Amino acid sequence: MPADLLVRSLRKEYPHPSGTLVILDDLSLEMRLGEALAVMGPSGSGKSTLLYILGSLETPTSGTVRVCGQDPFALDSAGLAAFRNRTIGFVLQDHHLLPQCSSLENVLLPTLAGGSAPGASKRARELLNRVGLADRMDRLPSELSGGERQRVALARALINAPPVILADEPTGNLDRASAEAVGTLLLELQREHNVLLITVTHSTELAARFPARAELLDGQLQRAA
Ligand SMILES: Nc1ncnc2c1ncn2[C@@H]1O[C@H](COP(=O)(O)OP(=O)(O)OP(=O)(O)O)[C@@H](O)[C@H]1O
Ligand SMILES: [Mg+2]
Repeated sequence: MPADLLVRSLRKEYPHPSGTLVILDDLSLEMRLGEALAVMGPSGSGKSTLLYILGSLETPTSGTVRVCGQDPFALDSAGLAAFRNRTIGFVLQDHHLLPQCSSLENVLLPTLAGGSAPGASKRARELLNRVGLADRMDRLPSELSGGERQRVALARALINAPPVILADEPTGNLDRASAEAVGTLLLELQREHNVLLITVTHSTELAARFPARAELLDGQLQRAA
């Protein structure tokens, strides 16, 4: 059976006045649902670029990307938006919550694209309960701590029950205790929902808790012990 995430010969270049900048070079990766990988590597090595390509927010220069059997880059823009909404949950460093929306409304946002999804509100409440924010559902992001905001972002990433979660430094802006709590939740939710999780992180503590690690170096992913 083909892998649920399949990357072959991936290349990403950016044009630059002093010559082409090669960020990803012949990169390969295969993962299945239920697997979790922490990606580390120096600043500027291309970790976010890789994550954005896997999430089809950025296009590769060349190479093969298949997510759950689909080539996202073969879809038209409406098809791509629907595919991304259904298949991928994103968790980013600065949560990207809408400031004027409550925790509950923020979690519900990804469900609005396909019209009103039945049971969405119940599921959003269950997820907020699961991340320990049962008593914070009506608060605005400005009324939450950084760790609480990131837990809302985790619930939002899971609301459409996507098979794939991509997280870019999800604990990057948090103090040590909040980072540990968010890391614990991320890994627990990954296992509970049998999600394929890729997390980019500079935190060796967080990476050490993942069942698998890789380092992005010279445009390629090298599996680490
Ligand atoms: N749109 C762009 N045009 C040109 N160069 C870019 C563009 N986006 C990213 N880069 C370059 O690609 C390289 C990789 O960037 P990327 O953001 O993927 O690094 P990163 O590994 O996530 O770094 P960090 O750990 O600091 O977040 C960097 O040198 C960056 O300057
Ligand atoms: Mg980055």
